[in-house]
Amino acid sequence: MSKEQTSFEIRLKQSAAETESLLMRLLSQQVLDDEIARPENLTAAMRHGTLNGGKRLRPFLVVESAALFGGNHETALRIGAALECLHCYSLIHDDLPAMDDDDLRRGQPTVHKAFDEAVAILAGDSLLTYAFDIIAAPETALAADGKVQLVSALARAAGVGGMAGGQALDLAAEKNAPDEAGIRTLQAMKTGALLRFACEAGPVIAGASDDDRKRLRVFGEKIGLAFQLADDLLDVTSDAATLGKAAGKDAGRGKGTLIGLHGMEWAEKTLNDLTREAVDLLEPYGAKAEILQQAARFVANRQS
Ligand code: IPE
Ligand code: IPE
Ligand code: MG
Ligand code: MG
Ligand code: MG
Repeated sequence: MSKEQTSFEIRLKQSAAETESLLMRLLSQQVLDDEIARPENLTAAMRHGTLNGGKRLRPFLVVESAALFGGNHETALRIGAALECLHCYSLIHDDLPAMDDDDLRRGQPTVHKAFDEAVAILAGDSLLTYAFDIIAAPETALAADGKVQLVSALARAAGVGGMAGGQALDLAAEKNAPDEAGIRTLQAMKTGALLRFACEAGPVIAGASDDDRKRLRVFGEKIGLAFQLADDLLDVTSDAATLGKAAGKDAGRGKGTLIGLHGMEWAEKTLNDLTREAVDLLEPYGAKAEILQQAARFVANRQS
C-alpha cells in the first residue's frame, strides 16, 4: 500500500468518525421523538441499517468538496449525514429478497434478517425521507436558496432518473443482458448519481460558481463509474470476510456488469483511465484539491 493511501485512509477514518457521531445523534430516540414518540422497532431498524460501519465515503466527498471552496464544515457534515441516510436506505432495499436477496451487510445481518421485511422496507422509507428533513431543518446553516438546490439535486439523484431508476434497470438486466452503453447508463444511475451529488453538494454549500459546480459534477460522474466498476471487480476477486457482504454473486445472478462483458484486464485499465481523468479535472485547483484527487485513487484501488 502506498504512503499516500495510508495518509488518505487516516483522513477518511477521521471524517467517518465525525459523521458517525452526528448520525448517532440524528438517529437517537431522543432526537427522533421530537413531537410524538416514534415506533421504537422502526427507529432501531434505522439505526441498525445506518450505524454499522460503512466507509462513509459519500459524506467525506461532501465535506471535502465543500472545503475546496471554503464552505461551512458543520453544514457540510449535516448534508453528508443526510446523504448517508439516503445511501443506507438504498442498501437496505438493495438487500431485500425481492432485489439482491442478501443476508450480510457491513459484516452484520441485513435489516430484513435482523428485523423483518416489512420493517426493512419502512426503515428504508424513513431514512429516505429523513434525509430531506435533515437538509431542510433550521439546524442546517444554509440560506433557503442553497437548501432548495440541494433538495432538488438529491431528489433527482435518488429518484426514477437516478438511483431508484438505475436499480430497476439493474434488475431488468438480470433477465435481458444490456449492451455496454446500457450497462454504463444503469451504473451511472444506480451508483453514480449519489456520488455525483456528493461532489456537487460542496460547491452548492459554499456558494461557488456554476462552472465549479459543473466541474465537480463531472468529477463525481467519473468516480461514480469507477466506484461501481471497483465494486464489481471486488465481487469477483474478494471474499465476504473482507467485504462484509457476499462476494461472487453478480455472475450467478446474471448481473449486467462491464467485467462480464470485457473481462478483468479491461476493467483494471478502465479504472486507471477514469482515475486519471478525474484527477486531471481538479488540476486547476492546485494543491487544495489533492485530497479529492486521492479520493479518486482510493475509489479505484479500495479493498472493501
Ligand atoms: C455499496 O456502497 C453500494 C454500491 C453503490 C456499490 P459502499 O461500498 O460505499 O458501501 P458502504 O457504505 O461503505 O458500506
Ligand atoms: C449498487 O449495487 C447498489 C445500490 C445502488 C444500493 P450492488 O447491488 O452491486 O451493491 P452491493 O454490492 O450489494 O453493495
Ligand atoms: Mg444491487
Ligand atoms: Mg447488492
Ligand atoms: Mg455489488
